[in-house]
Amino acid sequence: MSGQNGLQIGSRIFAKLYDRVLAPSEEAGLSDRRARLLASAKGRVLELGAGTGLNLTHYPKSVESLALTEPDQQMALKLRSRAAAGVGEAFIEIVSAPAEALPFADNSFDSVVATLVFCTVKDPQVALAEVSRVLKPGGELLFIEHVRGVGSTARWQRLVARPWAAVAGGCRCDRTTEMTINGSPLDLVEIEHGYMPKAAPFIRPLIQGRAVRPAQ
Ligand SMILES: C[S@@+](CC[C@H](N)C(=O)[O-])C[C@H]1O[C@@H](n2cnc3c(N)ncnc32)[C@H](O)[C@@H]1O
Repeated sequence: MSGQNGLQIGSRIFAKLYDRVLAPSEEAGLSDRRARLLASAKGRVLELGAGTGLNLTHYPKSVESLALTEPDQQMALKLRSRAAAGVGEAFIEIVSAPAEALPFADNSFDSVVATLVFCTVKDPQVALAEVSRVLKPGGELLFIEHVRGVGSTARWQRLVARPWAAVAGGCRCDRTTEMTINGSPLDLVEIEHGYMPKAAPFIRPLIQGRAVRPAQ
């Protein structure tokens, strides 16, 4: 089997199992977190790495338009079928693009949403620079991300990081995303540290919050 075929099969299995694997966490509180985060989404909204569309039912009806990016074709198949149900009156488009090269003009969005995505993007710094570019001044990045823990959790994460990435679509379980946001052009205005319920210990530490593109 070629490396490319192996990657395609891995991506198909990951996309197929994703909702089922996440279901216990969603039911035990992750879904409520999504709802709380997305209550602040407004106007023109961009979601990065929208996956199978687990955020779609949580957007407020007041959202005007929703651009959903998803570079993985298998995830995008499920996303398309979920998005077909619509989100209020919002205009929805699905775009195949990585967060590091967003095909949108500067100052386009009021809100950018990223949930469980900065663990997987290849270059989080470049992706955050892109988020800042496409946000309007004063616009917000709304995020929920699993991150590197401390003490024995961090030690476990270091051990399992590579095998986990191999079976989980490239997800790195030990990213220091809060630090990366702090080093980005965005201002971190709200951060809450918590846990992903019913998840393996190495993907349990979670951050949730908002970062704003400063008004010039
Ligand atoms: C763990 S899933 C999260 C899906 C969804 N956001 C959620 O909350 O359930 C990570 C997603 O990021 C996507 N992804 C991977 N690399 C990416 C990149 N460079 N830019 C944007 N999304 C990416 C994957 O295809 C996958 O759908």
